[in-house]
Amino acid sequence: MSADIKYLTTAQIREDFLEFFQSKGCKRYPSSSLIPDDPSLLLANAGMNQFKEYYQGLKTMHEVGACSCQKCLRTNDIDNIGDSRHLSFFEMLGNFAFGGFSKEQAIAAAIEFCTAPEHLGLPMDRLYFTVFTDDDESIELWQKYGADGTHINRLGEEDNFWAAGPTGPCGPCSEIYFDQGEEFGCGSPDCAPGCDCDRYLEFWNLVFTQYDRQEDGSMPDLPHKNIDTGMGLERIAAIMQGQHSNYEGDVLRSLLAVGEKLSGKTYGGTAGGADRSLRIIADHSRAVTFMIGDGILPSNEGRGYILRRLLRRAVYHGRLLGIDGAFLTKYAAEVRSIMGDVYPALVDNAALIDGIIAAEEERFNATLDKGEALLDAELKKLEEGKDLPGEVAFTLHDTYGFPIDLTREICEVRGHKIAMDAFDAAMADQRERARAAANRDAWGKFNNVWTALSDELVATEFCGYDADQVQGATVLAIVLEGESVAQAQAGQTVEVVLDRTPFYAEMGGQVGDTGFLGGNGAGVRVTDTKHREGDLYAHVGEVQEGALYVGQTVDAVIDHGRRELIRRNHTATHLLDAALKLVLGEHVSQAGSMVSAERLRFDFTHFEALTKEELERIEGLVNAEVFAAEPIVTKVMGIEEAKASGAVALFGEKYGDVVRVVSTGDSSEPFSRELCGGTHARNTAEIGMFKIVSEGSVGANARRIEAVTSAGAIAYVDERLALLDTVAAGLKCRPADLALRVEQVQREARDVQKKLQAALAGGSSNKLADAVAGAMDMDGYKFVAARLDGVSGKELRNAWDTVRDKLGMACACVLASVGEDGKVALLAAGTDPAVEAGFAAGDVIRQIAPLVGGRGGGRPTMAQAGGRDAAAVDDALNKAKELLGA
Ligand code: SER
Repeated sequence: MSADIKYLTTAQIREDFLEFFQSKGCKRYPSSSLIPDDPSLLLANAGMNQFKEYYQGLKTMHEVGACSCQKCLRTNDIDNIGDSRHLSFFEMLGNFAFGGFSKEQAIAAAIEFCTAPEHLGLPMDRLYFTVFTDDDESIELWQKYGADGTHINRLGEEDNFWAAGPTGPCGPCSEIYFDQGEEFGCGSPDCAPGCDCDRYLEFWNLVFTQYDRQEDGSMPDLPHKNIDTGMGLERIAAIMQGQHSNYEGDVLRSLLAVGEKLSGKTYGGTAGGADRSLRIIADHSRAVTFMIGDGILPSNEGRGYILRRLLRRAVYHGRLLGIDGAFLTKYAAEVRSIMGDVYPALVDNAALIDGIIAAEEERFNATLDKGEALLDAELKKLEEGKDLPGEVAFTLHDTYGFPIDLTREICEVRGHKIAMDAFDAAMADQRERARAAANRDAWGKFNNVWTALSDELVATEFCGYDADQVQGATVLAIVLEGESVAQAQAGQTVEVVLDRTPFYAEMGGQVGDTGFLGGNGAGVRVTDTKHREGDLYAHVGEVQEGALYVGQTVDAVIDHGRRELIRRNHTATHLLDAALKLVLGEHVSQAGSMVSAERLRFDFTHFEALTKEELERIEGLVNAEVFAAEPIVTKVMGIEEAKASGAVALFGEKYGDVVRVVSTGDSSEPFSRELCGGTHARNTAEIGMFKIVSEGSVGANARRIEAVTSAGAIAYVDERLALLDTVAAGLKCRPADLALRVEQVQREARDVQKKLQAALAGGSSNKLADAVAGAMDMDGYKFVAARLDGVSGKELRNAWDTVRDKLGMACACVLASVGEDGKVALLAAGTDPAVEAGFAAGDVIRQIAPLVGGRGGGRPTMAQAGGRDAAAVDDALNKAKELLGA
């Protein structure tokens, strides 16, 4: 380590940075989730993500600015991860302002933090700066605060202009570099910050975010001149610890150590081989642990696919290192132990993280075994230097879940490339098929009209938590075949938007309400209610009478009985969720649900089938809560208060600042307490009875329970009882005696079966014994021809063994059987001496098989055939005798 640099841990740097900017008036924000609150972005990739709306002037911050340490994931270049620089997951320290402080203040603060002895204390002569091409102001400012003018370079758009994505806030930037020393340089006279070599390490980027790039490429000014700075924590930690690679700072080094221990290999900081695999697993395992902790689950698209890819690549590199069996949860445990205090989601969701990792890893190991065998076979067939056919790579991807980079890596180790053109073509075909399928979704064309309406109208007011009807609601819009219209006539199917409504729009798994809109001569039978953009509720239905027009007032009445059933099923879903957590563990997390009038369906994370006992306990717990007749208490409160009260939130779901909390009873520790916008029973007793109807698997890590309540449960039980009556009547006994009766019937059936088999076996062996006794003397061997009905082809071979045992060295036979299925089996066989004496089993079978409508043949010592014509079996046997002259 350089003598002039003090040693700081990652934790010390993180905390010092945040405290420093707090002292400058910035508010400290926790990292936002890796799942961004921004549809234009797949994963959080910068500290500024969570502040986008402040940049755009849509929200106002009252403090001077903000600071944070943000979880980030950048995966544009997964293939590069493994070298000593690239990371997928990393932490970004940042400070941000939206008019609250100036460019000069940002630059002054950056220099102070970098050089002040009580902070990083880096020597000024090792710091370098770059500015955007014509940004003279920044050059002056860096110098004003102590930078050496010869240490400042101008760079172009590629290096010094930053944008979070193709559109949105962006601006010129200025970067701070650390000089690692000449020995890390490329030696070129032009070597300077921005050079590809390792001498100058960029560690802090100050963006002066002042433009808002539009779809058409234009860049109007943002309302303020903003500041967005980001410092790579892993990078600065390595610098402060005298290391030259991101991976050698304390945090990632301890993950490398996990791999060293598991594999028995020592990390040496080289570019390839075991070191590369150790780095890949250290990076990917950390990314995977954080992603699952934030609610991302493995899947075949979007974030879930990135998670799956990272996890699989880590597993594969574990294989390369020779680590035996599943190992990734050991890394997850280390990630938790070194980062869990800063990122509590890692600890809160520990059971789920480990469960998902273990299940996914196990499955992928099995797939790897199969896919590797296939790839191995294909590679063996390939001539040296030839490319692996793209179709094979596609099959591996499509059928075996092999990410293409994994296939490439295996190929490269064996000296082959992939014919990427063919692979890309197969992928393009697949995408085309997916697109065509998506286009078939009829709702696609309706999107635009709703976007436009959501700009015009305010959100629909929902009054249906307590009321079943609303008098005099105003029709705000009518959508007919994807267009907003002023009126609709009887017979037309429309979507109607009202200013307020008691109809619940399908959301959070609860189906939309049905009912009737009527008044002023018009009536609409509502068959569904959908949730559209801008929180507009669309009442879908047919105009049944009169004309409906915008501006008209109607009474909106939901189908009361149906909604009552839905309420009960929804509340039962909450009880089920609570019972599952009690019986199976805290890793249970809702993965989806459907609540209708008829039934409820609940999908949840769990890794194996539930036992009968578990299902009984779950059902019992729910029913106990039903019998306890707990009132359902709904409170509206702030999200933080809700979480503090222990309310269950949907994993990975984004909530607004104000939420509804639904609890059973009013105690501080109710059986169930969940954040929920749905409609519920007033008291658990309304559920009446809860019955689980089925349990099964859905996808890799999830199970599904279907259940019924109240009237549905009674209907289910009635149906079961009726079935029992029918079966009992069929078996001629009382339902109560069914178990005994079934046992008796089974016993009888078994006895009959045994007798039948004995009869068949006895019959055929007797016949065989008779035939052997009557063996004919041929020229040089003994010969038996026999018909042994009821036995299979295999049993004919056993019979031949018996013949040979009895008759000795020189013998032959032709045996025939009509099996229980009516099919004919023929067998001819002879010992070597019999063959030498002229017997030829193959010839005999070839000639007699056609008589029974079959074909066959074989060796001179053994031949078999099958056929269909049972009536001709005796003819076939006679023909055999005739052929042999017997
Ligand atoms: N948004 C900039 C970056 O990610 C600075 O925070 O580099």
